[in-house]
Amino acid sequence: MAEDDAAGRIDELRTLVRHQEHRYYVLDSPEISDAEYDALFRELQDLEAAHPELITPDSPTQRVGGEPLPSFTQVRHGEPMLSLANAKNEEELRAWHARAVKLAAEAGADPGGLRFVLEPKIDGLAVSLRYEGGRLTVGATRGNGEIGEDVTANLRTISSVPLVMQAEAAPYPVVVEVRGEVYLPLAAFAQLNEQRISVGGSTFANPRNAAAGSLRQLDPRVTASRPLSTWVYGVGYVDGLEFSGHYEVLGWLRRAGFRVNPDVQVVATADEIVAGCRDWQERREQLDYDIDGVVVKLDDRRLQDALGAVGRDPRWAVAYKFAPTTAQTKLIRIGVNVGRTGVLNPWAELEPVEVGGVTVERATLHNEDDIRRKDLREGDMVILQRAGDVIPQVVAPLTDLRTGAERPFSMPTKCPSCGTPVVRIPGEVAVRCPNPDCPAKRTEAVKHFVSKGAMDIDGVGDKLVERMLDLGLIRDGADLYRLEASQLAGLERLGEKSAVNIIAAVEASKARSPARVLFALGVPHVGAENADLLVRRFGGLVALREASVEEIGETPGIGPVIAESVWEYFREPRNVDLIRRLEEAGVAMTTPGGGAGLADAAADGARGSVGPLDGKTFVLTGTLPTLTRQEATDRIVAAGGRVVGSVSSKTDYVVVGEEAGSKLAKARRLGITLLEEAGLLDMLETEDE
Ligand code: IVH
Repeated sequence: MAEDDAAGRIDELRTLVRHQEHRYYVLDSPEISDAEYDALFRELQDLEAAHPELITPDSPTQRVGGEPLPSFTQVRHGEPMLSLANAKNEEELRAWHARAVKLAAEAGADPGGLRFVLEPKIDGLAVSLRYEGGRLTVGATRGNGEIGEDVTANLRTISSVPLVMQAEAAPYPVVVEVRGEVYLPLAAFAQLNEQRISVGGSTFANPRNAAAGSLRQLDPRVTASRPLSTWVYGVGYVDGLEFSGHYEVLGWLRRAGFRVNPDVQVVATADEIVAGCRDWQERREQLDYDIDGVVVKLDDRRLQDALGAVGRDPRWAVAYKFAPTTAQTKLIRIGVNVGRTGVLNPWAELEPVEVGGVTVERATLHNEDDIRRKDLREGDMVILQRAGDVIPQVVAPLTDLRTGAERPFSMPTKCPSCGTPVVRIPGEVAVRCPNPDCPAKRTEAVKHFVSKGAMDIDGVGDKLVERMLDLGLIRDGADLYRLEASQLAGLERLGEKSAVNIIAAVEASKARSPARVLFALGVPHVGAENADLLVRRFGGLVALREASVEEIGETPGIGPVIAESVWEYFREPRNVDLIRRLEEAGVAMTTPGGGAGLADAAADGARGSVGPLDGKTFVLTGTLPTLTRQEATDRIVAAGGRVVGSVSSKTDYVVVGEEAGSKLAKARRLGITLLEEAGLLDMLETEDE
């Protein structure tokens, strides 16, 4: 290709690749497939290889990381990088607000007109990115706030850092320092530690250390190999652009191609600030990155200047801090439980430690492979994480702290409850106790049977279940329906009245929906959702029991493994007997009013006639005035709808109750139809006719 043509095509390809990188890494919404992107990228690489004189540092191909540096050089920030004063609780947050309002009023502002911006406080590493004429020239760490380290070569490797700003932000300012945080997503953090363990390396104690360790690398290729990401939250020195408010700055940064958190809020009052902080606290569990608080900033930049700073802490901003989500503690011992399906579950006994605001002394360890991969040993100091999930996870051992006294773990070869040799099912990581009479299995099965999402029998807790089994009062869930109050009174300090109440609760559970009954049976692989699909297809347990593997497998959403498991369950004489006894006790086995009709409709693929809410996806948030969450879910599902846990663009309706949290905010942002309970009931009724 002629030089001119090559230059033209290279230009074109860079624009295309940049646009796609922005869609993928910044906006999280790719427009083309990975393969199409790779093809564009490769064409650019090939052309540049043929015309090396046309390579520029801002070409998307230059993110791979160049030669290692002998050392970092220092750079002075155009404007200092400030830090933030902390508010440890809501009282301190309100005190900060009151003071900011007072100072703003003294500076001539109308206190009623003040606006505050709430942003997540990202627990990563602060960086400053200097752009001249829209091109990244220098990237630096915070250092002491005045002078940081030049890590430009490393920052260039991070895909969400624009090498050139988006054209939308033109005309570009002469100079702008963009301020933000580099972080490592939580899943990548866990993976990185596992990988380091596998090569005998040392582990990072938390995602922040991992991000810092990844960015402060003399060899940019190491940085390039770590999936670092960024959130930007402000500007430092600016020449050639004026902003009057902070929210406006964020809008401009977003247009310029930076990754700006989409959930940033603008609020006016102290109550709204407090509510917004609580909202983030709640949402924290669902994020794939670590936040250690919320930053509250006075929006007006003129007032920011007027309020000034005390030392390094500006008076116009504050950090409302959360408890850390990672902690270090000792793994005292690895215990093994037997679950209701016989799976042996290893768990960690930990030295009690506070993480994410709660004290943790136990954590699940999943399975033997997982323990091996993480190389967890009894006696290790370990990293505990309570984020992304409410259940605490043991992420990795701190290998640097080993003394040599730590003991590697191996799974018992016999069931810890009944001593039967365990079996490993081919293709599964789990080890199981095959003994159908294993006492631990029975206990767990009954606990599951009575649990909230299953038969929901009020007052029957774990201890009482264990006691009843020990005494031989029951052997399985069906036996509960033959109990009399006199047998319970006196057990586990139960009085007459409580015993009578329990019997009433057992009685009431007979009316649970067949889907719940199926779920309560604890068929391997059949959770609440699958139970629901099966009951909708077959109208209840009676038809399901008679169905062939093929028929079961034809249920939408049910794969062959589940179908096999269900079919086998119903072939086992003890299970047949259990179901017969439940039926005799009066437990509902079929959907009232034509379960078979439902089955036919579903089998025909006539999804529209399954129910008035067929195919619609609902999310529930907050407390509804009359329906419990379970009742609302049951009614939506019975009408053909689906209830899911989180709001997305695929959600059709969000049902909003009292004290609705972040789901409501997200629904508003996505423009999803909101319903109150009355609206939901209307839909259920009018469409029923
Ligand atoms: S603003 C005005 N906003 O927290 C003060 N900082 O102590 C300048 N951080 O290391 C900081 N998320 O990197 C600001 N949304 C956010 C932030 C944030 C994280 C970090 C920042 C600095 C520390 C401040």
